[in-house]
Amino acid sequence: MIQADDITLRDWLPSDAAALASNLNNPSVVRYLTEMIPMPYTISHARVFIGMNNFGHFQISRAILVDDILVGGIAIKPQEDIWKPGAELRFFLGEPHWGKGIMPRSIRKFITFAFANYDFERFFCHTIEENTACMRVLEKAGFRKEGVLRNAISKDGKLYNSVLFSIIRSEIQIT
Ligand SMILES: CC(C)(COP(=O)(O)OP(=O)(O)OC[C@H]1O[C@@H](n2cnc3c(N)ncnc32)[C@H](O)[C@@H]1OP(=O)(O)O)[C@@H](O)C(=O)NCCC(=O)NCCS
Repeated sequence: MIQADDITLRDWLPSDAAALASNLNNPSVVRYLTEMIPMPYTISHARVFIGMNNFGHFQISRAILVDDILVGGIAIKPQEDIWKPGAELRFFLGEPHWGKGIMPRSIRKFITFAFANYDFERFFCHTIEENTACMRVLEKAGFRKEGVLRNAISKDGKLYNSVLFSIIRSEIQIT
């Protein structure tokens, strides 16, 4: 468990299913996320997701809690073969929790933990070019913009450029 002040990052629990579904069952939240997230998003979908994470099947994934309320999730997907120094970062917050600076602090905690406990040298995040809130969050968490991948993302039948952000081990102080 990663804990500091009011934000806790911990493994998903079966009892998180209702709160997870409540946060993700919102087109505004999933608008820029993977098409793997069904809509509507039910408690059954949440149970399957939590089950996959509990078996370590998926990636390194944590629930985000503020004052013991589940507000979102954060995960990294390790890369393979010669790309193994890197891991892709993914995250979301339920809409009632936006605009309070929760995600930059959660990202910072999560990657500090991940650099300290795993061999990764780099975390990166692909953002859909019009998701300005996401790009701002990454900048606030200390990530740098690396470049634009043209027409790299297709979501709901529309093509988008991807803006790639990253942070490397030497850019973060591990205590
Ligand atoms: C993107 C997201 C993670 C931001 O997290 P957050 O904790 O709300 O971030 P912050 O409070 O630090 O706000 C970041 C920026 O979002 C924008 N923002 C703030 N409140 C907002 C609101 N109510 N609605 C939309 N955007 C808002 C502002 O530009 C803000 O920048 P500022 O601090 O310089 O004013 C969150 O909105 C979210 O989960 N969105 C849906 C999922 C998603 O897009 N995930 C990222 C995929 S790459």
